Amino acid sequence: MDFKKLREDFPVLNKNIIYFDSAASSLKPTQVLHKIRLYYEELPVNVHRGIHKLSMKASVIYEEAHEKVADFIGSNKKEVIFTANSTDSINQVMYMLYNSDYFQEGDEILTTVQEHHVDIVPWQFISKKLNLKLKFVKLNNDFSLDVNDFKEKLSNKTKLVAIAHVSNTLGTIMPIKEITKLAHEVNSLVLIDGSQSIPHMKFNFKEVDCDFLAFTAHKMLGPTGIGCLIGKEELLNKFSPVRFGGDMISNVTFEKSEWNTLPYKFEAGTPNISGVFGLGAAIDYLNKVGLENIEKHDKQLLKYCYNKIKDIKNLEIINCKDLDNQAPIILFRMKGILPVELSGLLDDISEIATRAGMHCAQPIVSSFDKNGLVRASFYFYNTFEEIDVFAETLQKISESLYKWFLKFYLNKRFLISFYTININIFYVIENDFKSFLIQNS
Ligand SMILES: Cc1ncc(COP(=O)(O)O)c(C=O)c1O
Repeated sequence: MDFKKLREDFPVLNKNIIYFDSAASSLKPTQVLHKIRLYYEELPVNVHRGIHKLSMKASVIYEEAHEKVADFIGSNKKEVIFTANSTDSINQVMYMLYNSDYFQEGDEILTTVQEHHVDIVPWQFISKKLNLKLKFVKLNNDFSLDVNDFKEKLSNKTKLVAIAHVSNTLGTIMPIKEITKLAHEVNSLVLIDGSQSIPHMKFNFKEVDCDFLAFTAHKMLGPTGIGCLIGKEELLNKFSPVRFGGDMISNVTFEKSEWNTLPYKFEAGTPNISGVFGLGAAIDYLNKVGLENIEKHDKQLLKYCYNKIKDIKNLEIINCKDLDNQAPIILFRMKGILPVELSGLLDDISEIATRAGMHCAQPIVSSFDKNGLVRASFYFYNTFEEIDVFAETLQKISESLYKWFLKFYLNKRFLISFYTININIFYVIENDFKSFLIQNS
């Protein structure tokens, strides 16, 4: 696979930027943009509602996208519900369970300590409302799941195991098949958050055998505002919808309503049609590149980057304890500089986009550093040359840090700044340091 050639499909890459923030949102290829444009230019109508040709054509493409997703993740079309994003998918599962009599007081939900907020907050909410207990499974020293702790915490009281397949901070790949099997032995449901795995690796819903799967299009080359909830057919038949209105019904009288067939029972109102068009095109694109190729390239980039930056002075890599069991994410910090400043400097000096802060996973990230951390995340359109620039820039920042402090100290500017209010100190430090780096880089 010629990954360099594929870069031509991503217009934003012509602008000489280095995009290492794909875990936040991937770039979008022209094929996806064209499909969205096709909707607005040629078929800008509603689906499932008109018998005119435009609506019929739009409905066919919309339905094809349900099928494409089903084939892509090994489920059937009835099990594929279009949502707004992973957050929406997970919240819908939470409300399905909340509105049913599935949970009894004292039941337990298991998740892990390394989760994104969306794999914590909905479960805190329902636990408080229904008097459930939310338990967090620990990690081993290499950040893999502590399966023994999982087994200890799992019991007949466990009614839901909800975890991310791949951590958006540490990048750890969780043993979801093993987890699902163990959870099913105690009759617990399993919800997998595939936000960080579906764009990067092959996933088969039937083989994993989880009950629900959530993912989001914008991390897998698709547009924002569209995501998927995959649920086992028997469960989607059993639980009530959580949104009510047009399209999700088959019959309505003044007294009562009957639900539509799957998956429409869970797709109330006019859907994000252009988003679904774009997602369909994104899946075509991913199939063309091949997830095996993507996974292989991801690994090569990760290992190359780790080896390039691991010995840089002042730099500390937090994750990367087991590169073979990790998604292409590097989480790091540098002594003497705040993560937001480091991320800002990477952007200012070499146009490298990274993310800094808590990464919507405050419990785990703040356990490493209360100021947050910097994350570099790769996708198949990234190159080894980009990583070289990244490593050189980090090296430069690290060396300059030392020189800058020396210069600053000798100029006695620290003493002057010391008596000014905090905000001034930050202003002087930040601007002085940035200009020093830019001049010396
Ligand atoms: C593991 C994980 N889950 C869920 C989400 C939320 O995705 P969205 O904001 O598209 O709902 C993210 C996004 O960063 C994520 O990394």
